[in-house]
Amino acid sequence: MKQELYQTLEKQLKYLLSAQRYYVTNAAQFAALIYQSLENINWVGFYFYRENQLTLGPFQGKPACTPIPLGRGVCGQAAQKQQTIIVTDVNQFQDHIVCDTASQSEIVVPILNITNDNLIGVLDIDSPQKANFNQDDAHGLENLVKTFLTMTDF
Ligand code: SME
Repeated sequence: MKQELYQTLEKQLKYLLSAQRYYVTNAAQFAALIYQSLENINWVGFYFYRENQLTLGPFQGKPACTPIPLGRGVCGQAAQKQQTIIVTDVNQFQDHIVCDTASQSEIVVPILNITNDNLIGVLDIDSPQKANFNQDDAHGLENLVKTFLTMTDF
């Protein structure tokens, strides 16, 4: 089920990003596509790595916390480890940063430069339901991030 959804999203994202390569526009389109398409989502957005911290980029949902130091919160840890992090219950995650008390589970996917693995930022998605994200989401979102990277100039 989710795999089919991510295949459809892949096609839609490629279409949306084919209009331009500007990262602000492409991140905004990407965030809006996810927000409209995934179930049980209350926030989706980007943080970009600037001056040794994560700075809020295009997003959908309520205004959010910014900046986030590297290594802090789910976003900062995913960025530092350069690994996707799935949090099934944010209340059980040490150092979770609460932006919206409605958020109960979360997934953060790092965005790394394709050629040298340098940190560009993270994609963060929050859900008001516990355990809303699994490995299918991690795999599907990592593929979408790859498409975003190949179709965008930063
Ligand atoms: N919960 C995140 C902070 C970002 S918001 O969820 C939008 C974290 O712990 O890094």
